[in-house]
Amino acid sequence: MKHSCAIFDLDGVLVDTAKYHYLAWKELADRLGFNFTLHDNERLKGVSRMSSLDILLEVGQMKDRFTQVEKENLAAEKNQRYVEWISKLDESELLEGALSLLEALKKKEVKIALGSASKNAQLILENVGIAHLFDVVVDGNAVSKAKPDPEVFTLGADKLQVPYERCVVFEDSQAGLEAAKAVGMFAIGVGQKHALPHADIVYPSLKNFPVELYF
Ligand code: BG6
Ligand code: MG
Repeated sequence: MKHSCAIFDLDGVLVDTAKYHYLAWKELADRLGFNFTLHDNERLKGVSRMSSLDILLEVGQMKDRFTQVEKENLAAEKNQRYVEWISKLDESELLEGALSLLEALKKKEVKIALGSASKNAQLILENVGIAHLFDVVVDGNAVSKAKPDPEVFTLGADKLQVPYERCVVFEDSQAGLEAAKAVGMFAIGVGQKHALPHADIVYPSLKNFPVELYF
């Protein structure tokens, strides 16, 4: 089936921000006195900021040590460092194939939506120079329920008035793929096949993506 709307996750699909999330969380873990590895960081993919903090504190065996207010302060501290890094992003941090895919979709008049858990999405889109290519941006500020809840995708499709089965979702996280499938969207995994069993199909990256097959 040909689709008329493409919904993109941001972190790990269009932009290589995972390393900055990692550096900022690692700094916080170092300050709290425990080690946070790249392996641990895999668990934070697609997960909201506060849930990421819970996972980090679980790794450090500090889960029950902080009040809600203290946790909000820790998350704000991490975000401040993260924003310092992403403020310096430019188009070189776009992942391979991302820009040409967005441009090819635009040319075919396919609707383009962002569906990201990040509250920093707008800043990132602007800094890497692709904000103008989106018909709608749904990010962590717009939703009340995190992936695997499909809200972040259905909101975009509803705003564009496209039926869910005509939407293709591009995602690098299990939670995001699950969310897409839950509402009958076609779910394309970006990454390693074995790590993304919920996907309808997996591509290692967006490089040379076969647009004609899906749109
Ligand atoms: C997701 C990332 O896109 O956004 C997660 O994969 C991140 O790692 C989440 O925690 C929230 O991001 P932010 O920018 O609002 O802290
Ligand atoms: Mg992602």
